[in-house]
Amino acid sequence: MTREWRHAGWAVAGTASLWITAVALASGQGAARAELPREVLAENVFKNVTALGGISVDEFMGTMGVFSASLGFSCEDCHTGGSNNWARYAEDVSPRKQTARRMVGMMAEINKQYFGGRQVVTCFSCHRGANRPKVTPSLTLLYGTPPPDELDVLLPPAPPGTPSAAQILDKHLQAVGGARATGLTSVLAKGTYAGYGPEGFPRPVEIYAKAPNQKAVVVRDSASGDNATVFDGQTGWLSAPFKPIDVMEFHGAELDSVRADAELAFPANVKQALANARSSTDFINDRPVLAVQGTKGNALVTMYFDEETGLLTRLVRSTPSVVGRLPIRTDYSDYREVEGVKLPFKWTTTWLDGRSNFELSSVQPNAAIDAARFARPGPPKPY
Ligand code: HEC
Ligand code: HEC
Repeated sequence: MTREWRHAGWAVAGTASLWITAVALASGQGAARAELPREVLAENVFKNVTALGGISVDEFMGTMGVFSASLGFSCEDCHTGGSNNWARYAEDVSPRKQTARRMVGMMAEINKQYFGGRQVVTCFSCHRGANRPKVTPSLTLLYGTPPPDELDVLLPPAPPGTPSAAQILDKHLQAVGGARATGLTSVLAKGTYAGYGPEGFPRPVEIYAKAPNQKAVVVRDSASGDNATVFDGQTGWLSAPFKPIDVMEFHGAELDSVRADAELAFPANVKQALANARSSTDFINDRPVLAVQGTKGNALVTMYFDEETGLLTRLVRSTPSVVGRLPIRTDYSDYREVEGVKLPFKWTTTWLDGRSNFELSSVQPNAAIDAARFARPGPPKPY
């Protein structure tokens, strides 16, 4: 099967299905937002929020990632201060910050006026990584080799003959160890973590996961304090140094996404974890993959399995925000068998304003894990 053939399959399949409107583009967040407690709304936590009110702090921080990624900016291009002086982020010193506020209104207005309120125009639609969108079509681009691109939010419809989501997941379950994998009750793993840019130095990482859906990833750092992402089965938090909020709780779609991540850590869940699951095909690093896409609440989740081995090579979770979707992608590699279960020993997680590399040195399936590991983490502090 050639790449052209596969892609032709979805090009001719044409119009976006109703599913697109229902699931991915209409954010569907109205209901979830209405239930947010007042104290987590961005305008009640930060000092100077006038354009992005009514959303939770975690979604608000996601919008800052959309701003930066869409314009090719770092935080300091619109803010003064830096990660040790968050108070200064409230200042309106940069004209770019003011422009960004106006653009939030403009974007919402375009979508409302011309697209029936569907979020089809975002910061990225115009900016595409540059602060000043191009006015003139580029001849170089037109006649040059196009840079590699990735699919947008939704999977293309499956070409004829593509296995169903259930068939793909069944093959995957066999590939990772069948009953041994579905019987997994916990995983305790240790290894090394390295972040992106100034965060690039290696640190120890500990991962705890307990079936059916508890998970904690703790990057140890005695100098600045640990970075911990925890989901206790119900509620999720990020406790990390150098952030405007010491311990940030996840809400709405962000919480759905963290829940999906915890559930999908256990093979026993993969067939039930997502609603509306459907399949399609694609390529990752020139290898054919079979994809399964579905929803977890308001989060959209796509799993890509190597067509030949059935192993998970990529997981993309994407959540809606007022200024565009927030994607987070994990690429898995180096699968090894531990007590009859195949588990990845390396992965890289990439999102709009960061990247993390994980490399495990030890993995203990079915180990006893103290329930306290999944409790709300305290604020980060050096030790
Ligand atoms: C394109 C400009 C732009 C970029 C880039 C940007 N921001 Fe912002 N930021 C804003 C705007 C505009 C606001 C105010 C939003 C409002 O009024 O609703 C804001 C507000 C904030 C606030 C709230 C401050 C307060 O107390 O009122 C924080 C915290 C923040 N940004 C963090 C960040 C971080 C972290 C990054 C980098 C990941 C970042 N921003 C990148 C434009 C930007
Ligand atoms: C419909 C297209 C469009 C959309 C959507 C859009 N922008 Fe813009 N933006 C522009 C154009 C065009 C300019 C340049 C205007 C000029 O040169 O005066 C600009 C300029 C800016 C600038 C000033 C950059 C600089 O270095 O001076 C900022 C900041 C900005 N946009 C932020 C945003 C953000 C944040 C969003 C999403 C909320 C957004 N834009 C969405 C078209 C768009």
